[in-house]
Amino acid sequence: METALARVLPEPVIAPEKLHAAMRYATLGGGKRIRPMLAFAAGEAVGADPARVEHAACAVELIHVYSLTHDDMPCMDDDDLRRGKPTCHVQFDEATALLVGDALQSLAFETLAGAEACVDASTQVAMLALLARASGSRGMAGGQAVDLAATGQSLELAELEFMHIHKTGALIEAAVLLGAMSGGAPSAAARAGLERYAHCVGLAFQVMDDVLDAETDTATLGKTAGKDAAQGKATYLTLMNAKEARAYAGELIADALAAIALFGAAGSRLADIARFIIERRY
Ligand code: IPE
Ligand code: IPE
Ligand code: MG
Ligand code: MG
Ligand code: MG
Repeated sequence: METALARVLPEPVIAPEKLHAAMRYATLGGGKRIRPMLAFAAGEAVGADPARVEHAACAVELIHVYSLTHDDMPCMDDDDLRRGKPTCHVQFDEATALLVGDALQSLAFETLAGAEACVDASTQVAMLALLARASGSRGMAGGQAVDLAATGQSLELAELEFMHIHKTGALIEAAVLLGAMSGGAPSAAARAGLERYAHCVGLAFQVMDDVLDAETDTATLGKTAGKDAAQGKATYLTLMNAKEARAYAGELIADALAAIALFGAAGSRLADIARFIIERRY
């Protein structure tokens, strides 16, 4: 992924040098790369060529890095540490961080529109539409809007779930589906299994993000620990204790594993990633 992303990102010697340097700074050399891994694992489940999946994997990671770059800005979560480094607006400046997000988003779609990204053109158009929807106001950006509006408020469980499914789940679902679609439209049964898997994994991922924010130290997380409580964020830990939240994430992962049983051994990487999501420490 590191090599693939380094190839897709413009070289820092290309003008405008500062923007390209900042895009590379935000994207390269850090992060768990969970979304790319999910794309490759879903591709493997349906027999897609990994060389094609790589484009979808890059596209989703670029959208993710854009979302992190903006999420950290003073007008949103105002964080100064990300992936163990100063956040983009701290290392560069706010206007540059804003443009990094804009440019990474465009680069994601350019990457997914490339000739190699899918075996057939009509599925590729569907992939572009899927990523657009997952990133926009009915997906990640919409979830971020709910997150900001809910800061300092208390949400009901259903509202919290809506927020998490949008701000984090939508892009995780896109990673899984796009990975599979790289090899052509999956069967209805495969798609339904992947959708259910991704829905459960996406929600469990943000539940665990909330738990880790409260339980893990800054050095391990690579981002400032305890920020959610300090900022009055609505999280799963405002509605239940950490043990209950972990148990809920565990139930979601059990559901995710059941949803991919139809793939047999070909789904083993999807199963490994699902387990990692609740076992991870960062
Ligand atoms: C953090 O995502 C932000 C959320 C959507 C929860 P990750 O935990 O995947 O962040 P990186 O990519 O590993 O830095
Ligand atoms: C971020 O959620 C979700 C997106 C970036 C879309 P958080 O605000 O909880 O992510 P962290 O904890 O800063 O990584
Ligand atoms: Mg946030
Ligand atoms: Mg944040
Ligand atoms: Mg968080």
